[in-house]
Amino acid sequence: MARLVVDANNKIGTIEPEIYGHFSEHLGRCIYEGIFVGEDSDIPNVNGMRKDVVDALREIEIPVLRWPGGCFADEYHWKDGIGPKEERKKMINTNWGGVVEDNSFGTHEFMELCRQLGCKTYINGNVGSGTVREMSEWIEYMTLGGTSPMADKRKENGHEEPFTVDYFGVGNENWGCGGNMTPEYYANEYRRYQSFIKQYNADKPIRRICCGANSEDYYWTDEVMEACYRHVDPAQHGFMDLLSLHYYTLPLGWLPKVSATEFDDELWYKTLWAAYHIEDLIRRHGAIMDKYDPEKKVGMSIDEWGTWFEVEPGTNPGFLYQQNTMRDALVAGVSLNIFNKHCDRVKLACIAQMVNVLQAVILTDGDKMVKTPTWHVFRMFRHHQGAELLLSSLTGVKDAYTDEDKKLPVLTESVSVKDGVITVTLNNLSTDTDEELTIQFSDEVKREVKECNILKGSDIRDKNTFEEPEKVGIKPYDGYRDEGCGLTLTVPAASVIELRLF
Ligand code: AHR
Repeated sequence: MARLVVDANNKIGTIEPEIYGHFSEHLGRCIYEGIFVGEDSDIPNVNGMRKDVVDALREIEIPVLRWPGGCFADEYHWKDGIGPKEERKKMINTNWGGVVEDNSFGTHEFMELCRQLGCKTYINGNVGSGTVREMSEWIEYMTLGGTSPMADKRKENGHEEPFTVDYFGVGNENWGCGGNMTPEYYANEYRRYQSFIKQYNADKPIRRICCGANSEDYYWTDEVMEACYRHVDPAQHGFMDLLSLHYYTLPLGWLPKVSATEFDDELWYKTLWAAYHIEDLIRRHGAIMDKYDPEKKVGMSIDEWGTWFEVEPGTNPGFLYQQNTMRDALVAGVSLNIFNKHCDRVKLACIAQMVNVLQAVILTDGDKMVKTPTWHVFRMFRHHQGAELLLSSLTGVKDAYTDEDKKLPVLTESVSVKDGVITVTLNNLSTDTDEELTIQFSDEVKREVKECNILKGSDIRDKNTFEEPEKVGIKPYDGYRDEGCGLTLTVPAASVIELRLF
Protein backbone atom coordinates (compact mmCIF):
# COMPACT_ATOMS: atom_id res chain seq x y z
CA MET A 1 0.00 0.00 0.00
CA ALA A 2 1.20 3.51 -0.75
CA ARG A 3 2.19 5.66 2.20
CA LEU A 4 2.39 9.43 2.60
CA VAL A 5 4.52 10.64 5.48
CA VAL A 6 4.18 14.29 6.48
CA ASP A 7 6.62 16.07 8.75
CA ALA A 8 4.41 18.82 10.13
CA ASN A 9 7.34 20.43 11.95
CA ASN A 10 9.43 20.80 8.82
CA LYS A 11 8.38 23.89 6.91
CA ILE A 12 10.31 24.09 3.67
CA GLY A 13 9.28 27.57 2.53
CA THR A 14 6.37 29.75 1.50
CA ILE A 15 4.22 28.85 -1.48
CA GLU A 16 3.92 32.26 -3.08
CA PRO A 17 0.29 32.97 -4.00
CA GLU A 18 1.55 34.07 -7.44
CA ILE A 19 2.18 30.39 -8.32
CA TYR A 20 -1.60 30.33 -8.90
CA GLY A 21 -1.48 33.15 -11.48
CA HIS A 22 -3.22 33.50 -14.84
CA PHE A 23 -2.47 34.85 -18.28
CA SER A 24 -4.76 36.89 -20.54
CA GLU A 25 -3.63 37.76 -24.05
CA HIS A 26 -5.26 39.62 -26.91
CA LEU A 27 -5.88 36.28 -28.55
CA GLY A 28 -9.14 34.92 -29.91
CA ARG A 29 -11.97 35.39 -27.42
CA CYS A 30 -9.88 35.71 -24.27
CA ILE A 31 -10.09 39.47 -23.71
CA TYR A 32 -12.92 40.42 -26.07
CA GLU A 33 -16.13 38.53 -25.20
CA GLY A 34 -14.41 36.35 -22.62
CA ILE A 35 -13.70 39.17 -20.18
CA PHE A 36 -14.42 42.55 -21.73
CA VAL A 37 -17.79 43.17 -23.39
CA GLY A 38 -17.96 46.96 -23.05
CA GLU A 39 -20.30 49.02 -20.93
CA ASP A 40 -23.09 49.01 -23.53
CA SER A 41 -23.29 45.22 -23.77
CA ASP A 42 -26.47 43.33 -22.85
CA ILE A 43 -24.24 40.92 -20.94
CA PRO A 44 -24.24 42.12 -17.32
CA ASN A 45 -20.98 43.95 -16.71
CA VAL A 46 -19.22 46.35 -14.40
CA ASN A 47 -17.28 49.00 -16.32
CA GLY A 48 -17.26 46.67 -19.33
CA MET A 49 -15.98 43.54 -17.50
CA ARG A 50 -18.47 40.71 -17.58
CA LYS A 51 -19.82 40.07 -14.13
CA ASP A 52 -20.28 36.30 -14.39
CA VAL A 53 -16.64 35.79 -15.39
CA VAL A 54 -15.20 38.16 -12.78
CA ASP A 55 -17.32 36.50 -10.07
CA ALA A 56 -16.12 33.04 -11.12
CA LEU A 57 -12.51 34.19 -11.16
CA ARG A 58 -12.84 35.76 -7.73
CA GLU A 59 -13.94 32.38 -6.40
CA ILE A 60 -10.55 30.92 -7.28
CA GLU A 61 -8.72 33.89 -5.75
CA ILE A 62 -6.55 34.83 -8.69
CA PRO A 63 -3.38 36.34 -7.21
CA VAL A 64 -1.81 37.87 -10.35
CA LEU A 65 -2.75 38.41 -13.99
CA ARG A 66 -0.34 38.70 -16.93
CA TRP A 67 -1.23 40.91 -19.93
CA PRO A 68 -1.22 41.82 -22.91
CA GLY A 69 0.71 38.78 -24.25
CA GLY A 70 2.33 36.47 -25.22
CA CYS A 71 3.43 37.09 -28.76
CA PHE A 72 0.97 39.99 -28.88
CA ALA A 73 3.08 41.87 -26.32
CA ASP A 74 5.95 42.33 -28.76
CA GLU A 75 3.73 44.05 -31.31
CA TYR A 76 1.68 46.03 -28.81
CA HIS A 77 2.15 49.78 -28.61
CA TRP A 78 0.58 50.94 -25.39
CA LYS A 79 -0.18 54.48 -26.53
CA ASP A 80 -2.67 53.03 -29.05
CA GLY A 81 -4.72 51.73 -26.12
CA ILE A 82 -5.29 54.88 -24.03
CA GLY A 83 -7.53 57.92 -24.33
CA PRO A 84 -11.00 58.22 -25.88
CA LYS A 85 -12.01 54.85 -27.35
CA GLU A 86 -13.24 56.28 -30.65
CA GLU A 87 -9.80 57.78 -31.27
CA ARG A 88 -7.83 54.63 -30.53
CA LYS A 89 -5.91 53.16 -33.44
CA LYS A 90 -6.99 49.91 -34.99
CA MET A 91 -4.34 47.32 -35.81
CA ILE A 92 -4.07 43.81 -37.17
CA ASN A 93 -3.35 41.08 -34.67
CA THR A 94 -0.78 39.38 -36.89
CA ASN A 95 -0.05 36.51 -34.50
CA TRP A 96 -3.58 35.46 -33.78
CA GLY A 97 -5.94 35.09 -36.68
CA GLY A 98 -5.15 38.38 -38.47
CA VAL A 99 -8.22 40.00 -36.91
CA VAL A 100 -8.69 43.72 -36.25
CA GLU A 101 -7.68 44.82 -32.77
CA ASP A 102 -9.49 48.04 -31.92
CA ASN A 103 -7.51 48.71 -28.74
CA SER A 104 -10.68 49.26 -26.74
CA PHE A 105 -9.11 47.21 -23.95
CA GLY A 106 -5.90 48.99 -22.94
CA THR A 107 -3.92 49.91 -19.85
CA HIS A 108 -6.79 51.53 -17.90
CA GLU A 109 -9.11 48.62 -18.68
CA PHE A 110 -6.51 46.07 -17.57
CA MET A 111 -5.98 47.93 -14.32
CA GLU A 112 -9.75 48.07 -13.79
CA LEU A 113 -10.00 44.31 -14.38
CA CYS A 114 -7.27 43.63 -11.80
CA ARG A 115 -9.01 45.96 -9.36
CA GLN A 116 -12.23 43.97 -9.75
CA LEU A 117 -10.36 40.68 -9.40
CA GLY A 118 -8.37 41.96 -6.43
CA CYS A 119 -5.15 40.65 -7.98
CA LYS A 120 -1.62 41.84 -8.67
CA THR A 121 -0.63 43.17 -12.08
CA TYR A 122 1.94 41.67 -14.43
CA ILE A 123 2.46 43.77 -17.55
CA ASN A 124 4.54 42.37 -20.38
CA GLY A 125 6.52 45.01 -22.30
CA ASN A 126 7.51 45.16 -25.95
CA VAL A 127 11.16 44.53 -26.79
CA GLY A 128 10.69 42.90 -30.22
CA SER A 129 9.18 45.89 -32.03
CA GLY A 130 9.26 48.59 -29.36
CA THR A 131 11.90 50.93 -28.00
CA VAL A 132 13.47 51.62 -24.64
CA ARG A 133 11.77 55.00 -24.64
CA GLU A 134 8.34 53.49 -25.31
CA MET A 135 8.79 51.05 -22.44
CA SER A 136 10.14 53.62 -20.00
CA GLU A 137 7.29 56.00 -20.85
CA TRP A 138 4.76 53.25 -20.18
CA ILE A 139 6.28 52.74 -16.71
CA GLU A 140 6.20 56.50 -16.15
CA TYR A 141 2.58 56.70 -17.35
CA MET A 142 1.44 53.94 -15.04
CA THR A 143 3.44 54.54 -11.89
CA LEU A 144 4.69 58.12 -11.52
CA GLY A 145 2.69 60.04 -8.93
CA GLY A 146 4.04 63.56 -9.50
CA THR A 147 4.08 65.74 -12.57
CA SER A 148 5.66 64.60 -15.81
CA PRO A 149 4.52 64.39 -19.43
CA MET A 150 3.33 60.80 -19.03
CA ALA A 151 1.86 61.16 -15.54
CA ASP A 152 -0.08 64.21 -16.71
CA LYS A 153 -1.41 62.25 -19.67
CA ARG A 154 -2.67 59.52 -17.32
CA LYS A 155 -4.44 62.15 -15.23
CA GLU A 156 -6.01 63.65 -18.37
CA ASN A 157 -7.27 60.16 -19.14
CA GLY A 158 -9.07 60.05 -15.83
CA HIS A 159 -6.68 58.38 -13.40
CA GLU A 160 -5.22 60.83 -10.95
CA GLU A 161 -3.43 58.29 -8.77
CA PRO A 162 -0.64 56.11 -10.15
CA PHE A 163 -1.46 52.49 -10.88
CA THR A 164 0.46 49.66 -9.25
CA VAL A 165 2.62 47.53 -11.51
CA ASP A 166 3.75 44.53 -9.50
CA TYR A 167 5.64 42.69 -12.25
CA PHE A 168 7.00 43.85 -15.59
CA GLY A 169 8.18 41.42 -18.26
CA VAL A 170 10.94 42.66 -20.55
CA GLY A 171 9.74 41.07 -23.78
CA ASN A 172 8.11 37.70 -24.39
CA GLU A 173 9.65 34.65 -26.04
CA ASN A 174 12.39 36.79 -27.53
CA TRP A 175 13.99 33.57 -28.83
CA GLY A 176 10.90 33.27 -31.11
CA CYS A 177 7.95 35.56 -31.84
CA GLY A 178 9.53 38.31 -29.72
CA GLY A 179 12.37 38.98 -32.18
CA ASN A 180 14.17 35.69 -32.91
CA MET A 181 17.11 36.85 -30.82
CA THR A 182 20.13 34.89 -29.71
CA PRO A 183 20.47 34.59 -25.92
CA GLU A 184 23.56 36.81 -25.84
CA TYR A 185 21.83 39.53 -27.89
CA TYR A 186 18.65 39.36 -25.81
CA ALA A 187 20.58 39.44 -22.54
CA ASN A 188 22.29 42.68 -23.56
CA GLU A 189 18.96 44.16 -24.61
CA TYR A 190 17.48 43.00 -21.32
CA ARG A 191 20.24 44.74 -19.36
CA ARG A 192 19.56 47.98 -21.22
CA TYR A 193 15.75 47.89 -21.09
CA GLN A 194 15.52 46.98 -17.42
CA SER A 195 17.69 50.02 -16.55
CA PHE A 196 14.74 52.18 -17.54
CA ILE A 197 12.17 50.41 -15.42
CA LYS A 198 12.32 53.22 -12.92
CA GLN A 199 11.16 52.54 -9.41
CA TYR A 200 9.06 55.62 -8.74
CA ASN A 201 7.50 54.19 -5.59
CA ALA A 202 9.96 52.79 -3.09
CA ASP A 203 7.16 51.02 -1.21
CA LYS A 204 5.81 49.35 -4.36
CA PRO A 205 8.80 48.00 -6.28
CA ILE A 206 8.23 46.72 -9.80
CA ARG A 207 9.68 43.25 -10.08
CA ARG A 208 11.53 42.72 -13.39
CA ILE A 209 11.01 39.52 -15.34
CA CYS A 210 13.69 38.52 -17.81
CA CYS A 211 12.69 36.35 -20.77
CA GLY A 212 13.75 32.78 -20.06
CA ALA A 213 13.75 29.59 -22.03
CA ASN A 214 11.33 27.54 -24.00
CA SER A 215 10.96 24.00 -22.60
CA GLU A 216 14.31 22.18 -22.65
CA ASP A 217 16.39 25.05 -24.04
CA TYR A 218 19.02 24.95 -21.30
CA TYR A 219 21.49 26.79 -23.53
CA TRP A 220 19.25 29.88 -23.42
CA THR A 221 19.11 29.82 -19.62
CA ASP A 222 22.86 29.45 -19.27
CA GLU A 223 23.74 32.15 -21.79
CA VAL A 224 21.20 34.68 -20.48
CA MET A 225 22.18 34.11 -16.85
CA GLU A 226 25.87 34.31 -17.70
CA ALA A 227 25.49 37.54 -19.68
CA CYS A 228 23.25 39.11 -17.05
CA TYR A 229 25.69 38.29 -14.27
CA ARG A 230 28.79 39.51 -16.16
CA HIS A 231 30.37 42.66 -14.65
CA VAL A 232 27.57 43.00 -12.16
CA ASP A 233 27.52 44.26 -8.64
CA PRO A 234 26.33 41.11 -6.80
CA ALA A 235 23.80 43.21 -4.87
CA GLN A 236 21.93 43.68 -8.12
CA HIS A 237 21.69 39.92 -8.58
CA GLY A 238 21.95 39.96 -12.34
CA PHE A 239 19.53 42.86 -12.76
CA MET A 240 16.57 40.53 -12.60
CA ASP A 241 13.99 39.51 -10.05
CA LEU A 242 12.59 36.59 -12.01
CA LEU A 243 13.49 34.56 -15.07
CA SER A 244 10.64 33.06 -17.07
CA LEU A 245 10.12 29.54 -18.40
CA HIS A 246 7.44 28.54 -20.92
CA TYR A 247 6.33 24.95 -21.19
CA TYR A 248 3.24 23.54 -22.84
CA THR A 249 1.88 20.02 -22.33
CA LEU A 250 1.91 18.46 -25.81
CA PRO A 251 1.36 14.68 -25.67
CA LEU A 252 2.89 14.04 -29.11
CA GLY A 253 5.08 17.14 -29.47
CA TRP A 254 4.08 20.16 -31.54
CA LEU A 255 2.73 18.00 -34.38
CA PRO A 256 0.37 16.32 -34.66
CA LYS A 257 -1.86 18.21 -32.24
CA VAL A 258 -4.37 15.92 -30.57
CA SER A 259 -8.05 16.43 -29.82
CA ALA A 260 -8.90 18.04 -26.49
CA THR A 261 -11.86 15.70 -25.96
CA GLU A 262 -11.39 12.49 -27.97
CA PHE A 263 -8.58 10.40 -26.51
CA ASP A 264 -7.82 6.89 -25.33
CA ASP A 265 -5.95 5.67 -22.25
CA GLU A 266 -2.61 5.83 -24.02
CA LEU A 267 -3.04 9.51 -24.91
CA TRP A 268 -4.24 10.21 -21.38
CA TYR A 269 -0.99 8.80 -19.99
CA LYS A 270 1.22 10.45 -22.59
CA THR A 271 -0.40 13.78 -21.77
CA LEU A 272 0.06 13.35 -18.03
CA TRP A 273 3.64 12.27 -18.50
CA ALA A 274 4.26 15.41 -20.59
CA ALA A 275 2.80 17.48 -17.75
CA TYR A 276 4.83 15.60 -15.12
CA HIS A 277 7.98 16.25 -17.17
CA ILE A 278 7.92 19.91 -16.07
CA GLU A 279 9.57 18.77 -12.85
CA ASP A 280 12.70 17.77 -14.81
CA LEU A 281 12.71 21.17 -16.45
CA ILE A 282 12.40 23.00 -13.13
CA ARG A 283 15.27 20.96 -11.71
CA ARG A 284 17.57 21.39 -14.72
CA HIS A 285 16.89 25.08 -15.41
CA GLY A 286 17.04 25.60 -11.65
CA ALA A 287 20.47 23.93 -11.45
CA ILE A 288 21.77 26.34 -14.11
CA MET A 289 20.31 29.29 -12.22
CA ASP A 290 21.99 27.98 -9.05
CA LYS A 291 25.41 28.35 -10.72
CA TYR A 292 24.94 32.11 -10.91
CA ASP A 293 22.44 32.65 -8.12
CA PRO A 294 23.11 30.05 -5.40
CA GLU A 295 21.07 32.00 -2.88
CA LYS A 296 18.01 31.75 -5.11
CA LYS A 297 17.32 35.46 -5.15
CA VAL A 298 15.98 35.20 -8.68
CA GLY A 299 12.62 33.48 -8.91
CA MET A 300 11.48 31.20 -11.70
CA SER A 301 8.34 32.53 -13.37
CA ILE A 302 6.59 29.75 -15.28
CA ASP A 303 4.35 32.29 -16.90
CA GLU A 304 2.96 30.07 -19.65
CA TRP A 305 2.02 26.49 -18.90
CA GLY A 306 -0.84 24.12 -19.67
CA THR A 307 -2.22 21.88 -22.39
CA TRP A 308 -2.15 22.83 -26.06
CA PHE A 309 -4.54 20.67 -28.09
CA GLU A 310 -6.23 20.90 -31.48
CA VAL A 311 -8.81 23.69 -31.65
CA GLU A 312 -12.49 22.75 -31.40
CA PRO A 313 -13.81 21.70 -34.81
CA GLY A 314 -15.16 24.61 -36.83
CA THR A 315 -13.40 27.32 -34.81
CA ASN A 316 -10.74 29.75 -36.05
CA PRO A 317 -7.35 27.95 -35.79
CA GLY A 318 -5.76 31.26 -34.79
CA PHE A 319 -8.02 31.56 -31.74
CA LEU A 320 -6.71 28.47 -29.90
CA TYR A 321 -10.11 27.61 -28.46
CA GLN A 322 -10.14 24.12 -26.91
CA GLN A 323 -12.47 22.20 -24.59
CA ASN A 324 -11.31 21.01 -21.20
CA THR A 325 -11.82 17.56 -19.65
CA MET A 326 -10.81 15.58 -16.58
CA ARG A 327 -7.47 15.08 -18.35
CA ASP A 328 -6.87 18.85 -18.10
CA ALA A 329 -7.88 18.72 -14.44
CA LEU A 330 -5.19 16.12 -13.77
CA VAL A 331 -2.62 18.14 -15.76
CA ALA A 332 -3.43 21.10 -13.52
CA GLY A 333 -3.25 19.00 -10.35
CA VAL A 334 0.09 17.43 -11.31
CA SER A 335 1.60 20.79 -12.32
CA LEU A 336 0.44 22.71 -9.26
CA ASN A 337 1.70 20.01 -6.88
CA ILE A 338 5.09 20.22 -8.60
CA PHE A 339 5.18 24.03 -8.40
CA ASN A 340 4.34 23.86 -4.70
CA LYS A 341 7.14 21.37 -4.10
CA HIS A 342 9.63 23.67 -5.85
CA CYS A 343 8.53 26.83 -4.08
CA ASP A 344 12.15 27.59 -3.18
CA ARG A 345 12.70 28.60 -6.82
CA VAL A 346 9.27 28.81 -8.46
CA LYS A 347 7.80 32.13 -7.36
CA LEU A 348 5.22 32.81 -10.04
CA ALA A 349 3.32 30.79 -12.64
CA CYS A 350 0.52 31.65 -15.07
CA ILE A 351 -1.69 29.06 -16.68
CA ALA A 352 -2.31 29.75 -20.37
CA GLN A 353 -4.82 31.16 -20.66
CA MET A 354 -7.58 32.43 -18.39
CA VAL A 355 -10.68 32.44 -20.64
CA ASN A 356 -11.48 30.72 -23.98
CA VAL A 357 -7.85 30.05 -24.95
CA LEU A 358 -5.83 26.82 -24.48
CA GLN A 359 -6.25 25.34 -20.95
CA ALA A 360 -8.83 27.89 -19.88
CA VAL A 361 -10.50 27.95 -16.48
CA ILE A 362 -13.59 29.60 -18.01
CA LEU A 363 -15.32 29.12 -21.37
CA THR A 364 -17.94 31.49 -22.75
CA ASP A 365 -20.41 31.43 -25.61
CA GLY A 366 -22.19 34.75 -25.96
CA ASP A 367 -23.85 35.35 -22.61
CA LYS A 368 -23.26 31.77 -21.40
CA MET A 369 -20.33 30.74 -19.23
CA VAL A 370 -18.96 27.45 -17.87
CA LYS A 371 -16.33 26.66 -15.29
CA THR A 372 -14.00 23.98 -16.65
CA PRO A 373 -12.58 21.03 -14.67
CA THR A 374 -9.35 23.08 -14.49
CA TRP A 375 -11.28 25.86 -12.69
CA HIS A 376 -12.31 23.30 -10.08
CA VAL A 377 -8.69 22.29 -9.48
CA PHE A 378 -7.72 25.92 -8.90
CA ARG A 379 -10.64 26.20 -6.50
CA MET A 380 -9.48 23.13 -4.53
CA PHE A 381 -5.82 24.13 -4.48
CA ARG A 382 -6.40 27.75 -3.45
CA HIS A 383 -5.67 26.95 0.20
CA HIS A 384 -2.01 26.43 -0.72
CA GLN A 385 -1.67 30.11 -1.66
CA GLY A 386 0.64 31.79 0.84
CA ALA A 387 0.88 28.59 2.95
CA GLU A 388 4.09 26.96 4.18
CA LEU A 389 5.13 23.87 2.24
CA LEU A 390 5.62 20.88 4.55
CA LEU A 391 8.17 18.15 4.03
CA SER A 392 6.27 15.13 2.74
CA SER A 393 7.10 11.99 0.84
CA LEU A 394 5.22 9.22 -0.90
CA THR A 395 6.52 5.65 -0.81
CA GLY A 396 5.28 2.41 -2.28
CA VAL A 397 3.70 4.16 -5.25
CA LYS A 398 3.33 2.13 -8.44
CA ASP A 399 3.94 3.50 -11.90
CA ALA A 400 0.82 4.46 -13.80
CA TYR A 401 2.72 4.32 -17.07
CA THR A 402 6.21 3.57 -18.36
CA ASP A 403 7.68 4.07 -21.81
CA GLU A 404 11.43 3.48 -22.26
CA ASP A 405 12.98 5.88 -19.72
CA LYS A 406 9.68 7.62 -18.95
CA LYS A 407 7.96 6.77 -15.70
CA LEU A 408 4.75 8.29 -14.41
CA PRO A 409 3.82 7.57 -10.77
CA VAL A 410 0.21 6.79 -10.11
CA LEU A 411 -0.06 9.30 -7.23
CA THR A 412 1.32 12.80 -6.80
CA GLU A 413 0.90 15.08 -3.81
CA SER A 414 1.88 18.24 -2.00
CA VAL A 415 1.19 19.30 1.58
CA SER A 416 1.13 22.74 3.17
CA VAL A 417 0.00 24.44 6.36
CA LYS A 418 -1.64 27.80 6.91
CA ASP A 419 -3.36 29.14 10.02
CA GLY A 420 -2.97 25.75 11.68
CA VAL A 421 -4.80 23.86 8.91
CA ILE A 422 -2.90 21.28 6.86
CA THR A 423 -3.90 20.95 3.20
CA VAL A 424 -3.02 17.78 1.29
CA THR A 425 -3.71 17.72 -2.47
CA LEU A 426 -3.53 14.39 -4.28
CA ASN A 427 -3.93 13.14 -7.84
CA ASN A 428 -4.57 9.57 -8.95
CA LEU A 429 -3.36 9.41 -12.54
CA SER A 430 -4.61 5.90 -13.28
CA THR A 431 -7.53 5.68 -15.69
CA ASP A 432 -9.04 2.66 -13.94
CA THR A 433 -7.47 1.71 -10.59
CA ASP A 434 -8.31 3.17 -7.19
CA GLU A 435 -5.36 3.53 -4.82
CA GLU A 436 -5.31 2.97 -1.06
CA LEU A 437 -3.07 5.44 0.73
CA THR A 438 -2.10 5.69 4.38
CA ILE A 439 -1.28 9.16 5.61
CA GLN A 440 0.93 9.44 8.67
CA PHE A 441 2.40 12.36 10.56
CA SER A 442 5.94 11.92 11.80
CA ASP A 443 5.14 13.83 15.04
CA GLU A 444 2.37 11.28 15.74
CA VAL A 445 -0.05 14.08 16.66
CA LYS A 446 -3.63 13.01 16.00
CA ARG A 447 -5.38 15.28 13.52
CA GLU A 448 -9.05 15.66 12.64
CA VAL A 449 -10.39 15.93 9.13
CA LYS A 450 -11.87 19.40 8.66
CA GLU A 451 -12.88 18.93 5.04
CA CYS A 452 -12.32 16.49 2.20
CA ASN A 453 -13.37 17.13 -1.40
CA ILE A 454 -13.01 15.29 -4.67
CA LEU A 455 -13.11 16.09 -8.37
CA LYS A 456 -13.91 13.07 -10.47
CA GLY A 457 -15.88 12.32 -13.59
CA SER A 458 -17.74 9.15 -14.54
CA ASP A 459 -15.41 8.98 -17.54
CA ILE A 460 -11.92 10.37 -18.11
CA ARG A 461 -13.29 12.41 -21.02
CA ASP A 462 -15.95 14.16 -18.95
CA LYS A 463 -16.24 17.90 -19.48
CA ASN A 464 -18.56 20.80 -18.75
CA THR A 465 -20.51 22.14 -21.71
CA PHE A 466 -22.94 25.01 -22.17
CA GLU A 467 -25.72 22.39 -22.27
CA GLU A 468 -24.43 20.55 -19.20
CA PRO A 469 -22.32 23.09 -17.27
CA GLU A 470 -22.10 21.13 -14.02
CA LYS A 471 -21.30 17.64 -15.17
CA VAL A 472 -17.87 17.80 -13.50
CA GLY A 473 -17.65 19.52 -10.14
CA ILE A 474 -16.20 19.37 -6.65
CA LYS A 475 -18.04 17.09 -4.24
CA PRO A 476 -17.56 16.31 -0.54
CA TYR A 477 -15.73 12.99 -0.13
CA ASP A 478 -15.79 10.54 2.79
CA GLY A 479 -13.61 7.74 1.45
CA TYR A 480 -11.22 7.79 4.42
CA ARG A 481 -10.89 5.91 7.71
CA ASP A 482 -9.27 7.13 10.86
CA GLU A 483 -6.73 4.47 11.88
CA GLY A 484 -5.66 6.11 15.14
CA CYS A 485 -2.06 6.60 14.03
CA GLY A 486 -3.12 8.17 10.75
CA LEU A 487 -5.68 7.98 8.00
CA THR A 488 -6.33 5.53 5.22
CA LEU A 489 -7.73 7.16 2.16
CA THR A 490 -9.06 5.63 -1.02
CA VAL A 491 -7.96 7.79 -3.95
CA PRO A 492 -10.28 6.87 -6.82
CA ALA A 493 -8.92 6.47 -10.34
CA ALA A 494 -8.59 9.69 -12.37
CA SER A 495 -9.42 11.98 -9.47
CA VAL A 496 -8.11 15.03 -7.64
CA ILE A 497 -8.56 15.21 -3.86
CA GLU A 498 -8.20 18.01 -1.37
CA LEU A 499 -7.94 16.92 2.26
CA ARG A 500 -7.80 19.51 5.05
CA LEU A 501 -6.87 18.58 8.61
CA PHE A 502 -6.41 20.30 11.91
O1 AHR B 1 -0.27 31.27 -25.23
C1 AHR B 1 -0.20 31.31 -26.61
C2 AHR B 1 1.17 31.71 -27.11
O2 AHR B 1 2.10 30.73 -26.78
C3 AHR B 1 1.77 32.98 -26.55
O3 AHR B 1 1.34 34.12 -27.22
C4 AHR B 1 3.23 32.78 -26.76
O4 AHR B 1 4.00 33.46 -25.80
C5 AHR B 1 3.40 31.28 -26.71
O5 AHR B 1 4.14 30.79 -27.75
